[in-house]
Amino acid sequence: MALKYSPTVIEHFTKPQNVGDICDADAVATEGSPACGDMITYSMKINPQTRIIEDVRFRSFGCASNIATASMATLMAKGKSIDDIKKMSHRDITVALGGLPAVKMHCSVLAVDGLKSAVKQWELEHGLVSDDNHILDRTAVTEALKGVLNPRTGCSLIDAKLINRMEIDNDEGRVFIEVMLCELDERFAENIEEEIREKIGALEGAQKVLVQFKPCEHIGKHLYF
Ligand code: FES
Repeated sequence: MALKYSPTVIEHFTKPQNVGDICDADAVATEGSPACGDMITYSMKINPQTRIIEDVRFRSFGCASNIATASMATLMAKGKSIDDIKKMSHRDITVALGGLPAVKMHCSVLAVDGLKSAVKQWELEHGLVSDDNHILDRTAVTEALKGVLNPRTGCSLIDAKLINRMEIDNDEGRVFIEVMLCELDERFAENIEEEIREKIGALEGAQKVLVQFKPCEHIGKHLYF
């Protein structure tokens, strides 16, 4: 079945804004999703006095929504402070685009995560933050899981309260996640697992990520419908 895109998504896909590279960029970051194979690279000019993003461009190696969300993300980021970017959520991009099909919501996560990575890299280079990624705890894992969406509903596993168990063994760098999965979502299990591995695997100290699914009919019947 063909996906239904809003006129704004189609506009940004067919005429994307701010495409390209900034040769003397202050920050460059690439964010990718092994689950779908798509990637975005951003380059940015950031004013060190005002910490305002004066220019931002992108290159996309992905789907139509990847291009549209990155295009909108650059428009929203230009002229904003790095603190504004840190507060930006994937929903801000989705709303500005007039919505996205649920199965494509993760494209907006990729778009906003890429902006945040570029800002973080700039802050690290300027000694403004320390690299706190080495703390492998429930807060870091929960934060990472906020970026994993159920492709059917477009909601994060955390917002939909689908995480049934979380165990972290810091000595071995092992993270175990149990996700509740209703029958309707079974076809997305592989995709969800891959996204979880990617997001948690990116945390420093995470050596092994184990994902298990627990069938739950109750969720499909009562939470989403
Ligand atoms: Fe993965 Fe669009 S970014 S399908």
